[in-house]
Amino acid sequence: MSNDSKSIGILTAGGDCQGLNAAIRGVAKAAINQYDMEVIGFLDGFRGLAENRYERLAGDSLSGILTLGGTILGTSRDKPHKMSVGDKVIDTIAQADANYHKLHLDALVCIGGGGTQKNAMRLLKKTDMKIITLPKTIDNDVWGTDACFGYDTAVEIATEAIDRLHSTASSHHRVMVVEVMGHNTGWLTAASGLAGGADVIVIPEIPYDIDVIKKSLIGRNRKGKRFSIVAVAEGARPKDNSEIPTEYEGSAAMHLTHRLAELTGLETRLTSLGHVMRGGTPSAADRILATKLGTKAVELIAQEKSGFMVAERGGYAVPVPLEEIAGNRRIIPDNHPLLNSLRSLGICLGE
Ligand code: F6P
Repeated sequence: MSNDSKSIGILTAGGDCQGLNAAIRGVAKAAINQYDMEVIGFLDGFRGLAENRYERLAGDSLSGILTLGGTILGTSRDKPHKMSVGDKVIDTIAQADANYHKLHLDALVCIGGGGTQKNAMRLLKKTDMKIITLPKTIDNDVWGTDACFGYDTAVEIATEAIDRLHSTASSHHRVMVVEVMGHNTGWLTAASGLAGGADVIVIPEIPYDIDVIKKSLIGRNRKGKRFSIVAVAEGARPKDNSEIPTEYEGSAAMHLTHRLAELTGLETRLTSLGHVMRGGTPSAADRILATKLGTKAVELIAQEKSGFMVAERGGYAVPVPLEEIAGNRRIIPDNHPLLNSLRSLGICLGE
């Protein structure tokens, strides 16, 4: 290592997803092999940065992690400006800045979803840290990028679950409601619902009319189709918000399941996929995306760039100013091809 080579830190923050270790590996290996940099990984997201907990990343620690789920660095939803410490909530931005300089870092790579992009922006505004971010989340809702890593694998998992629900739905002649994660967006539900052949797909972007869904299920039953699959995003909401009683707050799918059973008289069951969707080995597409964005991040650091998220755009890894990203959320636009295809197929979207 030469005297003028750089040192960089990496952290993973927010909910975990598949491809995080591929991204850590991509950043660290490119930094070491191509630019002779030193690399450390902060543990448990922004908390590790504030508490100066880190490990050196090289050789063995980067071997065999490409295919691993989760993150070898650990993660947390802690925010640097509002961190719980004992019974207090404190601003740790000055601590984070001091640790960054104490370790003689030239840049920090923050890997996370929408919340992480906002937290990185806060650090950029209040310190002189150099920061590059990467977009990860199963929700696929980070603004400014065509895709986030984690999403492809989660779509596969949800699709397999819907495939498996078909046979039991068919044997018992039931309506099977499946709740799919995705926070306040419907990317995961729309994609896995399409790939799994769901009959009804309910997403937050299209507030649902319960009567429309009822008619669709009864219509199928009358045509002799004795089972139905209803894919519901966890953030789904009825057209009339007052319709969700307090006992079902936080579970639109549970409410929908009970109401559909009442309204249709059909036997109905709910399956909630939950955190299973974030577990296990990443798909090839997620490994490739995470590596592509991770290695590009290092190229930007080598060029002394800061304040960018590396986005996927048209198949290329492209730097986008973080100020354009932070605070925005990417929802499914109404004219998106995914929704157009679902409508063309006659899938009920509850609209
Ligand atoms: O952002 C990813 C995600 O899995 C969302 O789909 C979900 O709403 C949320 O995280 C769950 O968060 P937690 O892991 O904190 O329960």
